[in-house]
Amino acid sequence: MDQLYREAILDHYKHPRRKGHIDGPDIHYHDTNPFCGDEITIELKVTDGVVTDAAFDGRGCAISQASASMIMEEIVGMSIADLKEWGKEDILELLGIEIGPVRLKCALLPLKALKAGLYGLDEWPE
Ligand code: FES
Repeated sequence: MDQLYREAILDHYKHPRRKGHIDGPDIHYHDTNPFCGDEITIELKVTDGVVTDAAFDGRGCAISQASASMIMEEIVGMSIADLKEWGKEDILELLGIEIGPVRLKCALLPLKALKAGLYGLDEWPE
């Protein structure tokens, strides 16, 4: 089963969904993993409290970029209230494989950017 998830992660890495930019995003946040310098920018369009468009840009390892791609695909149509409830477990469920402590920071980088954007914070509290 792990193999299927690994293939899905690689597919998202090689063919990222919703990579790029959207016009006039309501939420825009750029974040960097200080340990490796990898970067993610997330952009969301929000109408009546619901995400109507989402995109990301960035460069980095397969896990961070695949995680961003999967998250962006998943969140269109979700309410901001529900998204604010999202946590580590939701991302691990999306990725579907066991992630060690070092790779966890990679997997959670897009969530960190998303949360900081949602809360309008400079940094997402750890
Ligand atoms: Fe940099 Fe994964 S090695 S985010």
